[in-house]
Amino acid sequence: MSLTLRFIREFLRSPGSVGAIWPSSPALARTIVHVANVADARYVLEIGPGNGAFTGEILDRLRAGAKFVAVEKSPDLARTVAKRFPAARIVAGCATDLAAHLDGAPDSVVSGLPWAVFGASLQDAILGQITSAMSQDGTFATFAYFGPHRLKAGRAFRSKLDAHFRDIRRTPVVVSNFPPAFVYFCRR
Ligand SMILES: C[S@@+](CC[C@H](N)C(=O)[O-])C[C@H]1O[C@@H](n2cnc3c(N)ncnc32)[C@H](O)[C@@H]1O
Repeated sequence: MSLTLRFIREFLRSPGSVGAIWPSSPALARTIVHVANVADARYVLEIGPGNGAFTGEILDRLRAGAKFVAVEKSPDLARTVAKRFPAARIVAGCATDLAAHLDGAPDSVVSGLPWAVFGASLQDAILGQITSAMSQDGTFATFAYFGPHRLKAGRAFRSKLDAHFRDIRRTPVVVSNFPPAFVYFCRR
């Protein structure tokens, strides 16, 4: 089964967890990995790799000696990514329990999580885990679909970012993604 079909199957099984029917595009992967400063990072944490849309780009940019771990809630998708990138550390686990999967403080956190389908308390729990796990000088990058970001849920998520981070910026919209999306990149 192709990687995309596997992703769609997982969306149909768990729409409230996967949150997107289509994996992110290479253009969005390049954008998020660039603003997350992966090329200079000592330790990169990816949360919600799905079928690995960002993982390959991260691994290509990772400098020699830097550490990497990806935490994916779906055991099926975690297995798929682990097969695709056998040298990488891919953990089947939940972002609400990040500390259990880390051996140090990541200075670059790349998220593929579908924030819009999460409730407010889950968003807070995961953002709290991220800020307490990452290093003081760390960067957090996550994407949002353009359009829905203006709706109530999108604005509420932006307020959560404001509450958890001191410096929040966003990239221009990546139109060659379905749907078009942009990246928030934040500092503690
Ligand atoms: C929108 S998909 C994005 C996948 C990929 N990063 C991309 O951009 O194509 C969201 C992924 O986050 C995973 N996920 C959802 N909740 C999670 C959680 N609490 N902890 C870890 N992964 C989670 C889902 O299983 C899914 O693979």
